[in-house]
Amino acid sequence: MSVLDLVREDLREFAGYASARRANVTGNIWLNANESPWTNDADKGMNLNRYPEPQPQQLVKRLAALYGVGSASLMITRGSDEGIDLLTRAFCKAGQDGVLIAPPTFGMYAVCARVQNAMVFEVPLIDGETQWQFDLPAVLEKIRQEPIKLVFVCTPANPTGQSVSLDEIRALAKASTDKAIIVVDEAYAEFNETPSATSLLGEFENIVVLRTLSKAYAMAAARVGIVMAQENIIRVLRNICAPYPVPTPCVVQALAGLDDGNIELAKRRAAISVSERSRVYKKLQDMKSVKNVYASQGNYLLARFDDAEKAFQSCLSAGVVIRDMRANPVLQDALRISIGTPEENDALLTALGSL
Ligand SMILES: Cc1ncc(COP(=O)(O)O)c(C=O)c1O
Repeated sequence: MSVLDLVREDLREFAGYASARRANVTGNIWLNANESPWTNDADKGMNLNRYPEPQPQQLVKRLAALYGVGSASLMITRGSDEGIDLLTRAFCKAGQDGVLIAPPTFGMYAVCARVQNAMVFEVPLIDGETQWQFDLPAVLEKIRQEPIKLVFVCTPANPTGQSVSLDEIRALAKASTDKAIIVVDEAYAEFNETPSATSLLGEFENIVVLRTLSKAYAMAAARVGIVMAQENIIRVLRNICAPYPVPTPCVVQALAGLDDGNIELAKRRAAISVSERSRVYKKLQDMKSVKNVYASQGNYLLARFDDAEKAFQSCLSAGVVIRDMRANPVLQDALRISIGTPEENDALLTALGSL
């Protein structure tokens, strides 16, 4: 059995939209895409009158070098949000297949499942009080029992902060061979010491890794997400994707934001976020109004408060906006705090300290 047998049967042979840019033709007068032959006066040399490459090769190569994979194993999407959506559509037959999530977790997994009418199977994280934990035995059991096609492993996990080891991911992939794809969402990998699951891509054809330029690389508004997997999966996702998912101005900015200087800068800033995370963590632990703060490997902390409403309002009145998590049934007293600059973190601590 090939991993392609897990793709929705009706999509296995689907070649997608044959856009003008996909046609393998060359020339110097382009009259095949009903574009304007002129640029406008605001163009800034980007040739915005032309449709972009479906997968801009220069950026693909840059990202492939950054993550240490081959270009054919990587696809650029509109944020990793789109990667999650494409995977759900490619693998889950509406009304029949499902995804597994480990709540409390990033909301888009369930949203994309809902849009695709895929079932959502939940294996809650274990609240270890100092740290949350991925419940590997329960997840393995659920994969055995249910028609699960995608297992979303968020590591470091949003909003809970813990990471999942490569050994656990290996165990998941092994147990899911011929059954399900393990989607390792590493949106916050740059703040974490655990090595990336990209090192497992050669070994397992049922692992997909998601990365993003939205966090440590400081380009959330450019909407650049990255899906990495063995080539056959990438080919399927490219076929079902929108014809031109990556706008030229975003490509230009992403390439500039990934030059050697900016990569160094991103590393230095990630190190600041990590040291600030531990400073804020310790300060929160010492606050009487904080019941519990969880260890985190991301650029955020999840904390439980005696009076979360009061804490939230106190921050708001100081102009500090944090994330209210109380709608989640197991986080009814919890707030998530992104790690800002040292000055921003001081403002947060002052606001909470005044409670
Ligand atoms: C775990 C996780 N995955 C994916 C995303 C989406 O990121 P992107 O901006 O690349 O769509 C987020 C955004 O917050 C996230 O927390």
